[in-house]
Amino acid sequence: MQLIEAIENRRSIHDFKRVLVDEAVMKEIFRLASWAPNHRLKQPWEVMMFQNDGVRDYADLVIESYLREGFAEGYDSAKTDKMMQGIIQFLIDIPHHALIYMERDSDFHKFEEDYASVCAFIQNAQLAAWEKGIGVLWTTSPYIHDVDFIEGIGLNPELHKVAGVLQMGYPARVPKPKPRSPVDITFRNDSFNKKSDAR
Ligand SMILES: Cc1cc2nc3c(=O)[nH]c(=O)nc-3n(C[C@H](O)[C@H](O)[C@H](O)COP(=O)(O)O)c2cc1C
Repeated sequence: MQLIEAIENRRSIHDFKRVLVDEAVMKEIFRLASWAPNHRLKQPWEVMMFQNDGVRDYADLVIESYLREGFAEGYDSAKTDKMMQGIIQFLIDIPHHALIYMERDSDFHKFEEDYASVCAFIQNAQLAAWEKGIGVLWTTSPYIHDVDFIEGIGLNPELHKVAGVLQMGYPARVPKPKPRSPVDITFRNDSFNKKSDAR
């Protein structure tokens, strides 16, 4: 597959077949992703993959977070239980949840650089996966900022930032493309610095 074709044809996948992706294929996807540009060659990305029984515990932590965030406010307990069971089943039906995280650099500029490269890493992973017939949904649900959730998965919220969770698996359905608007580029060919004119 050509790079340009993959960039244009990759879609965010919402429906997955209930089939696990081979571990060697997953490793290859993230190995390819690690060619993402990153300042000082810090390679700031880390991957924690929830799959098989791990998804159940992950889903429980997600539900606890939703409840803490007041997601169920206004609903009686029967309705809340039904909604939460629905979310748990929805999450369990997704074969892989790849949580992407990084260490927080105390220097804000370096933190931003690291986050930027982690996002490049994620997009590389999406494209590499797509080429292998594997779909991804890049998600940034509110629990990625929930300190109790972060502790629940064994990380330290003061030290670690969760950049997102990639839902992954073989696509059961590929959505139609969502066409992009033209990109407005301001080309500045003429001198615009009045001070330099005066010199
Ligand atoms: C940082 C980020 C977070 C996203 N979070 C979600 C999400 O929580 N739920 C979701 O359905 N899609 C999420 N998406 C996917 C976008 O909705 C998707 O990229 C967009 O609709 C365009 O569709 P396409 O990727 O198929 O071209 C996210 C994308 C990015 C880059």
